[in-house]
Amino acid sequence: MPATQPLGKLRLGVNIDHVATVRNARGGAYPDPIRAARIAEEAGADGITAHLREDRRHISDDDIARLMDTLSLPLNFEMAATPEMQAIALRHKPHAVCIVPEKREERTTEGGLEVAREENQLAHFIAPLRDAGCRVSIFIAADSRQIEAAHRIGAAVIELHTGAYCDAHAEGRLEERDAELERLREMSAYAHSLGLEVHAGHGLTYDTVQSVAAFPEVMELNIGHFLIGEAIFRGLVPAIAEMRRLMEEARAPA
Ligand code: PXP
Repeated sequence: MPATQPLGKLRLGVNIDHVATVRNARGGAYPDPIRAARIAEEAGADGITAHLREDRRHISDDDIARLMDTLSLPLNFEMAATPEMQAIALRHKPHAVCIVPEKREERTTEGGLEVAREENQLAHFIAPLRDAGCRVSIFIAADSRQIEAAHRIGAAVIELHTGAYCDAHAEGRLEERDAELERLREMSAYAHSLGLEVHAGHGLTYDTVQSVAAFPEVMELNIGHFLIGEAIFRGLVPAIAEMRRLMEEARAPA
């Protein structure tokens, strides 16, 4: 049964990867993603997300260490299912780990994880992370097969990939956008009915966030690229504050 009322406060995780992208464009230390994380906290973020990619194209190992040392907000550590990343996660024991697919040639995380095909390996992979006290989340497409597999391997959380919905919106493919949104809505309810906590993210903007924030089962949105871009024009605090406002407006009872 889909929930009719929000199941709780909707949290905002601010992804700071692209502060590091700008820093790395020139090398050096500027702008510092850890400073962005502190400002995000002041602006009302509930958590910080950072993706340590295999090629270290944005966030670095040192960024993760500094976030763990200095951040008071929970860190959601995004990583591929590789032994190297598992060892890093087990060393730091962040509040949350989100397992994402990763291809070197992609510009961003293009699709969800293929959990159904890799079920046994993934079950083994996440077990030590769970045992270390990390909340394990799996980034997947809105697809019942993947949700069921994520449930079977013992993940606590799924994060639904909203990229296809956001792309269809941006490109004016409105029927596809609405169909994607419907799929996200149904799969949020389905995942919740299995006992999974539901998160969502990728590509969300001021224009697309409210439709997803309105799903009562969704408990957390992770948003990065748009917020860091918007911060160039209005500053990070107002950019985040406006996102929070839109999320809360969408969540308010009609
Ligand atoms: N959630 C996950 C699992 C991601 O991999 C990303 C991108 O790193 C995001 C959310 C945030 O996406 P965006 O930067 O497009 O807001």
